[in-house]
Amino acid sequence: MRTRIAISLSPLILLLSFRVVLSQLPLRGTLLNCGASSASEIGGIKWLSDDPYISYGVPKNLSISGLLPTLSTLRSFPFKASDVPCKFCYTIPVFRNATYLVRTTYYYGGPGSPPVFDLIVDGTFWTVVNTTGDYANNASSYYEGVFGARGKHLSVCLGVNVYTESDPFISALEVILLENSVYNATDFTKNAMGLIARSNFGSTGATVGYPDDNFHRFWHPVTGIMNSTSSNQTISASGFWNLPPENVLSTALVADPDKIMELQWPPVSLSNSSYYIALYFADTLFSSSRTFSIHINENSFYNNLEVTSSGLMIFSSIWNLSGSTKIILLPGSTLPPLINAGEIFGVFPVKGLTITRDVIALESIKKGILNPPTNWNGDPCLPREYSWIGVTCSEGDKIRVVSLNLSSMGLSGTLSPSIGNLTALTTISFANNNLTGPIPELSRLKLLEKLHLQDNQFIGDIPPSLAELKSLQELFLQNNNLTGEVPPGLKTKPGLNLKLLPGNHFSQPR
Ligand SMILES: *[C@@H]1O[C@H](CO)[C@@H](O)[C@H](O)[C@H]1NC(C)=O
Ligand SMILES: *[C@@H]1O[C@H](CO)[C@@H](O)[C@H](O)[C@H]1NC(C)=O
Ligand SMILES: *[C@@H]1O[C@H](CO)[C@@H](O)[C@H](O)[C@H]1NC(C)=O
Ligand SMILES: *[C@@H]1O[C@H](CO)[C@@H](O)[C@H](O)[C@H]1NC(C)=O
Ligand SMILES: *[C@@H]1O[C@H](CO)[C@@H](O)[C@H](O)[C@H]1NC(C)=O
Ligand SMILES: *[C@@H]1O[C@H](CO)[C@@H](O)[C@H](O)[C@H]1NC(C)=O
Ligand SMILES: *[C@@H]1O[C@H](CO)[C@@H](O)[C@H](O)[C@H]1NC(C)=O
Ligand SMILES: *[C@@H]1O[C@H](CO)[C@@H](O)[C@H](O)[C@H]1NC(C)=O
Ligand SMILES: *[C@@H]1O[C@H](CO)[C@@H](O)[C@H](O)[C@H]1NC(C)=O
Ligand SMILES: *[C@@H]1O[C@H](CO)[C@@H](O)[C@H](O)[C@H]1NC(C)=O
Ligand SMILES: *[C@@H]1O[C@H](CO)[C@@H](O)[C@H](O)[C@H]1NC(C)=O
Ligand SMILES: *[C@@H]1O[C@H](CO)[C@@H](O)[C@H](O)[C@H]1NC(C)=O
Repeated sequence: MRTRIAISLSPLILLLSFRVVLSQLPLRGTLLNCGASSASEIGGIKWLSDDPYISYGVPKNLSISGLLPTLSTLRSFPFKASDVPCKFCYTIPVFRNATYLVRTTYYYGGPGSPPVFDLIVDGTFWTVVNTTGDYANNASSYYEGVFGARGKHLSVCLGVNVYTESDPFISALEVILLENSVYNATDFTKNAMGLIARSNFGSTGATVGYPDDNFHRFWHPVTGIMNSTSSNQTISASGFWNLPPENVLSTALVADPDKIMELQWPPVSLSNSSYYIALYFADTLFSSSRTFSIHINENSFYNNLEVTSSGLMIFSSIWNLSGSTKIILLPGSTLPPLINAGEIFGVFPVKGLTITRDVIALESIKKGILNPPTNWNGDPCLPREYSWIGVTCSEGDKIRVVSLNLSSMGLSGTLSPSIGNLTALTTISFANNNLTGPIPELSRLKLLEKLHLQDNQFIGDIPPSLAELKSLQELFLQNNNLTGEVPPGLKTKPGLNLKLLPGNHFSQPR
C-alpha cells in the first residue's frame, strides 16, 4: 500500500506571510505555474510557464476571483478512452544523483467533482491523486515527495487509470534541489518518500515556507489541548542535517508539569508500511535543558533524551506503522517534555529505469511515424501497466525493449534507422500498416528472431546484412514495394521461414 495522503490548503488566502529577505538564498530548481503563458514572481519565488517542459495538454484560466496566482491557471489533459492507461509527462532538467523535493498542486475550479488519476515519477507509481474531499471544502491539495535524480532529467507524469472519469489536470509543479545532508539517511537510489505531515508544533502563526525554509517546505502550525511555548532566542538550525527553519524550532508544545504528553500525530490513519520520522526538539528557555523519553505507540523511540536550548533532531529512516499513531513523551526531569516540530514520510521503493539508449531509439522511431499511438508518452516501459502500446520490455534493474508489435495500427511514415540500436529486440512487427521508405540496417540486432514488415509500402533493397543475423527465424516482406536483388545468403539461410512474394519487384541475379 502506498501513502495516499493529500494535504489541503485554503486557496482563497495567501498561504505564507511572505517576508522578502534580500539576503535569502534563491530556490534552486524548477517551479512551474502550470497553464500560465508567462513567468511571474510571487513572494520572492520565480514561477515559470510550464509550456517548454511538456508537449501535451491545454492551458486553462479559472475565472474565480481571489485565487492564489499559481492556482488561477492549470493545464488539463484530454484523453481518449481507447488509449487508457496512458500518461502525460513533464520532463524537468536535474543534476544526476542529487535529491529533489517534488510537489504537485491541484485546484480544480470546475463544476462537479475533480478527476481521480495517478501520479508517476520516473517510471515509479507514486500515489493516486484524489482531490474530491478538499475541493468540496474549497481547498487546494498538494502531494509532496522526495526523489533522487537518477539521470539528467526527472519525469513527473499524470496517469489516466480506469477510475479516471474526466481530464487529469495540474495547477503547479515544483522540483526543488535539496542540500546533500537533507534526509540523507534514506538511500534515494532505492527508495523515495511521500510526505504525510510536516508540523510546526506550538505555533499560532501562519504556515511557514520560503524564505524561512530554504527549500520552500511547508510547516503547518499545530496547536492543541496542550500549552504552547515560544523562545526569544535564535536557535541555529545549521546543526540539523534536515535544515528546518529557525522560527519553526522556536515554538513548541509543552506537557503539563509531571504529566505524560500524548500527541495524536500524524492526524491521519496510516496504511501498514514503512515510514521516515524526524522529530525536532529545542528547549525554549534560555540556557536550559530537560530530559524525557519518546515512545511511538507502544514502542520506545528514544530513551532519556537530553534536550538543550541548542536543540536536536532524532529520526528513523525506516519505522513500521499501521493505523492511528501516537507520539508519547514521558517526563524524566523537573521541566516537562516539549516538542517543536516533526516530519513523517511514507517510504516506498523506486522501480528500475529503461536504459537511456533504448529510450532515445524509441523516441526517434516515434518521430519517424506520422501518427504514433497516442499513449507513447513518458518512459516506454514503466510503470508496467503504463508501458507504450506494442512495446514489451525485460524485467530487472536495467530494463530493455525486447519486442515491438505494432501490426495493423494504421501507421504511416517511415521506420527510423534508430531501430537498429534496440539491440535487445527479439521481435519486430509492423505488418499491415502504411509505412514507406527503406528497411533500416538491423545488423546489430543479434537476438532478432522475427521481422514482420509485410503489407506496407517499404521501398528499396533488402539489407544484405539480414542474412547474417544468426537468430533470425521468420522474415516476412511480401506486399511492399521492394526492389533490387534478394541477398543470396537469405535464400540459403538454414531454418529461415522467408516470405518475399507477392507484391515486390525484385530483379534476377545477374
Ligand atoms: C489566460 O489569461 C492570460 C492573461 O490574461 C492570457 O494571456 C491567456 O491567453 C489566457 N489563456 C487562456 C487559455 O485563455
Ligand atoms: C551517481 O552515482 C552513481 C552510483 O552511485 C555513480 O556511479 C555516478 O558516477 C554518479 N554520477 C554523478 C554525476 O555523480
Ligand atoms: C475520491 O475521494 C472521495 C472522497 O474523498 C471518495 O468518495 C471517492 O470514492 C474517491 N475516488 C476514488 C476513485 O478513489
Ligand atoms: C465553497 O464556496 C462556495 C462559493 O463561494 C460556497 O457556497 C460554499 O459554501 C463553500 N463551501 C465550503 C465547504 O466552504
Ligand atoms: C548526512 O549529512 C551529514 C552532514 O553533512 C553527515 O555528517 C552525515 O554523515 C551524512 N549521513 C549520511 C548517511 O550520508
Ligand atoms: C498550562 O500551563 C499552566 C501553567 O503552567 C498550567 O496551570 C495549566 O494546567 C497548563 N495546561 C493547560 C491545558 O492549560
Ligand atoms: C520574550 O521577550 C519579551 C520582551 O522582550 C518578554 O515580554 C517575554 O516574556 C519573553 N518571553 C520569553 C518566553 O522569554
Ligand atoms: C503489516 O504487514 C506485515 C507484512 O508486510 C504483517 O506481518 C503485519 O502483521 C502487518 N501489521 C498490521 C498491524 O497489520
Ligand atoms: C517493516 O516492514 C517491512 C515490510 O513492510 C519488513 O520487511 C520489515 O522487516 C519490517 N521491520 C520491522 C522492524 O518490523
Ligand atoms: C493505408 O492508407 C490508405 C489511405 O489513407 C488507407 O485507405 C488504408 O486503409 C491504409 N492501410 C493500412 C494497412 O493501414
Ligand atoms: C545509435 O546509438 C549511438 C550511440 O548511442 C548513436 O551515436 C547513433 O547515432 C545511434 N544511431 C541511430 C541510427 O540513431
Ligand atoms: C513503388 O515504387 C515505384 C518506384 O520507386 C513507384 O513509382 C510506385 O509508385 C511505388 N508504388 C507504391 C504502391 O508505392
